[in-house]
Amino acid sequence: MSETQSPAGPLSALRLEERLRDTRLFFGQALRTFHATGSIVPSSGALAYEMAEYVRRRPDPEQSLSILEAGAGTGAISRGIAAAMRPGDTIDLVEANPEFAAHVEELLKTDPEMSRVADSAAVHACLVNDMGTDRTYDVIVSGLPFANFTAEQVESILDHYFTVLRPGGTLSFYGYLYTKQVKAVIAKREDYLRQARSGWVVQDWIDRYRIDSARVYANIPPAWVHHLRKPEWESAGERPRAL
Ligand SMILES: C[S@@+](CC[C@H](N)C(=O)[O-])C[C@H]1O[C@@H](n2cnc3c(N)ncnc32)[C@H](O)[C@@H]1O
Repeated sequence: MSETQSPAGPLSALRLEERLRDTRLFFGQALRTFHATGSIVPSSGALAYEMAEYVRRRPDPEQSLSILEAGAGTGAISRGIAAAMRPGDTIDLVEANPEFAAHVEELLKTDPEMSRVADSAAVHACLVNDMGTDRTYDVIVSGLPFANFTAEQVESILDHYFTVLRPGGTLSFYGYLYTKQVKAVIAKREDYLRQARSGWVVQDWIDRYRIDSARVYANIPPAWVHHLRKPEWESAGERPRAL
């Protein structure tokens, strides 16, 4: 397991102003819809870099990638993915909150990293499970806040990811460090139990498919990133179920 340091370079005054604008939008939406947003500030550049690891580390350097990002928010991780994309790669950016989806559309026109990939990117303002299963992907990067969901919702989302993931493809997602310990102290018993159950589902998928994990301390809050691979032999119908 690796530990990641921030690769982010210094920000110009203009870029800093743009990041502050993203943070204000994110914080405002988090106050309204914390359950779906799952955090109060966007992810850091260090977390974005780790989440894009399997866009950089492609199995065949000659082959282009079909990428799905679920829960693009204000584009913090999308930027890291865009920086790792190469000509020929395509990306579907899915975001349930229409204000965030409109913001990401705007970034594709205005942001230096995002505009590089604008011609190969499509923004979808919907739940990721509503994307259907016609399109398949080599890499899925998920920013969804599993810790806020029920075990059934988490299972359904992970099952969807592995249905649209091509055999040999990778899924990267993150969770925050220490949330279980914090919730044990401050959360109501039913919320603690709900999170424990959804955590078991996540852990079960990690145990079955993990290829790597990394702690990212340079994020608020610090995070675990998990990278999973769908086996070459596995199709949706053959997937072993958890006991
Ligand atoms: C923790 S935020 C991550 C945002 C961004 N990727 C980042 O890291 O800063 C989770 C995002 O997922 C979105 N979201 C939650 N459930 C979703 C779903 N089922 N399908 C698509 N987006 C969803 C929320 O609206 C929110 O923008």
